[in-house]
Amino acid sequence: MDKKKSEEEVSESQIAVHWKEEDYFKPVPEFTAQANVRDDKIFERFDIKNFPDCYKEYADMLDWYKSYDRILDSSNPPFYKWYVGGKLNACYNCVDRHLPKYKNKTALHFVPEPEDEPIQHMTFQELYVKVNEFAALLRDFCGLKAGDTVTLHMPMIPELPIVMLACARLGVIHSQVFSGFSGKACADRVVDARSKVLITADAYYRGGTLIDHKEKADIAYDEALKEGQKIEKILIWERYPGKYSAKTPLVEGRDFIVNDIIKNYYHRTVEPEQLPADGTLFLMYTSGTTGKPKGAQHSIGGYLAYVTGTSKYIQDLKPEDVYWCMADIGWITGHSYIVYGPLALAASTVIYEGVPTYPDAARPWRVAEELAVNIFHTSPTAIRALRRVGPDLPQKYNFKFKHMTTVGEPIEPEVWRWYYNSVGKKEASIVDTWWQTETGGFLCSTIPGIHNMKPGSAGPAAPGIYPVIFDEEGNPLPKGSGKAGNICIRNPWPGRMLTIWGDDERFVRQYYQRYNKDPKSKNWEDWPYFAGDGAVEAPDGYYRILGRIDDVINVAGHRLGTKELESAALMVVEIGEAAVVPVADPIKGKVPHIFVSLKPGYEANAEIEKKVTNALANEIGPIAKPGKVWIVPDMPKTRSGKIMRRVLSAIANKQDVGDITTLANPQVVEEIQKMS
Ligand code: WTA
Repeated sequence: MDKKKSEEEVSESQIAVHWKEEDYFKPVPEFTAQANVRDDKIFERFDIKNFPDCYKEYADMLDWYKSYDRILDSSNPPFYKWYVGGKLNACYNCVDRHLPKYKNKTALHFVPEPEDEPIQHMTFQELYVKVNEFAALLRDFCGLKAGDTVTLHMPMIPELPIVMLACARLGVIHSQVFSGFSGKACADRVVDARSKVLITADAYYRGGTLIDHKEKADIAYDEALKEGQKIEKILIWERYPGKYSAKTPLVEGRDFIVNDIIKNYYHRTVEPEQLPADGTLFLMYTSGTTGKPKGAQHSIGGYLAYVTGTSKYIQDLKPEDVYWCMADIGWITGHSYIVYGPLALAASTVIYEGVPTYPDAARPWRVAEELAVNIFHTSPTAIRALRRVGPDLPQKYNFKFKHMTTVGEPIEPEVWRWYYNSVGKKEASIVDTWWQTETGGFLCSTIPGIHNMKPGSAGPAAPGIYPVIFDEEGNPLPKGSGKAGNICIRNPWPGRMLTIWGDDERFVRQYYQRYNKDPKSKNWEDWPYFAGDGAVEAPDGYYRILGRIDDVINVAGHRLGTKELESAALMVVEIGEAAVVPVADPIKGKVPHIFVSLKPGYEANAEIEKKVTNALANEIGPIAKPGKVWIVPDMPKTRSGKIMRRVLSAIANKQDVGDITTLANPQVVEEIQKMS
């Protein structure tokens, strides 16, 4: 890395904890005896010499109206088309096709946050009925058709997957925005997706409070209008059907209570649309290196095949499993591994409304006991929180997981071991799955029935995925070198997003430009996918992910762009400059600290700190609240005027600031250090 660059860049991997390689844990025979994948012939089938035909295996797990003519069209890299010429419907694959065998089996278990409300169970037949009725409403009341977009801002209630599947049935592209995001953040996504319909809920429980969610829809409407996008209809699901739980009034002709109008569509069925495999299933907005969140545009055929295949082989899902992924459907994990993957395999999937530690840290274990959950999936942040508050609680409950997943951030080996020993009771296999919003499904993970587990390492590449780690100059590091570099994927795979919604150029720039040597090349081998993560490959071929190397901070497994946070802070009148850095946190992995300098004439005070915090919460959502606001006399800068985030990061993380003699204003560093 050249010196100048290293001075200006701060990256999570630079400040990541570097733990040593751990010993293996072996999956228990009870697990391997029943596993979907029990021998490593799978890696022969998915060998690169069988690429791309190996991906027929995943497509064969789906039902097609029309079989595809070609597995992969890679004639225009990095824009790929999978299963070209094939026609299918994602909703049909997740619901209708299971009816002959499983219509009376539970598809969804809904666990309300208040513990005195009963768990609701919905069979595949009931899901089928509800999805059809809502699809009829979308088509006939909203006039939506294949290719239109619709924005969802829905909490974790069973109506969320119903809405998604109803959209998929019609070919309407859904864009679900995490319910914890603010009305403004929702508006930005409405505008970018050009949605005319917003689907939301009146209220939901979080941490013991019934939150008024409809008020965010009013803000989203106003803010979207300011940016030229008129939302014509707002559809509102009631948390308690028949009782409107929000304080905000309904706007005549714009706001509609779904639970009322759905009555006009009772008993209606809608034929699933026969859609092209490379059509769009949904958009999932995520933070990137520049300010504006981008819509990862996922396909119908490639995405569904990939999440179904990985759910079967890595989640080890079977129809008889009760599977609980505690993520939020507002993130990609929820789309791929709460809704589409599990339902495509006819598993029973659990939807939990609230926070894992409400009302206490034994809640997940009581739910697991009551529903006989046997596969569990959550994030290191949740595991850390449960471990800290209730380390001995899992053993007090009578549940037994055969398999557990961790996702979203690196997991510390100590925390992994607690997950294994206490939650898994030394019987469950664990998979540490590394992947991204953009990738649709898992990229690296052990296969639970064949590989040993290694705490702190995601594991080898998933079948059909060929990673390479490059150094800064673009030289591939030798396999198993144990050296840190930038992880890329050499080959295309079906789960990868089609593009960034409306911005092909940004798609190429962000994910492919870095290591592409010939922009005119029509050979996919010249287009490694740049993931934006630092990683190390150990001699055994296991990958350890170190964290983001770009301007993205991973807070409790949620991606936030530093630029998004900084521009929100700059909306406070007193603020002249802002810089955000990730700071290590024992529970959340990372939290953002924000450094601000004031415009001339203003004095630092607690009021300004509060304003900055509120600006971040209003513009983005409570997850963006900074761990600390530092009002500094000036930012440490290079002679060319760039803010030295590396120095700020070192101060906030209580580390050595290194050589600062080349700064334009080295004296300010000491002043800032005194503030910590
Ligand atoms: C990080 C979440 C370490 C990584 C599915 C990636 C991980 C970003 C892991 C994507 C893991 C995800 N170990 N780090 N097992 N899984 N990450 O788009 O930095 O919300 O780039 O997708 O999370 O976050 P995203």
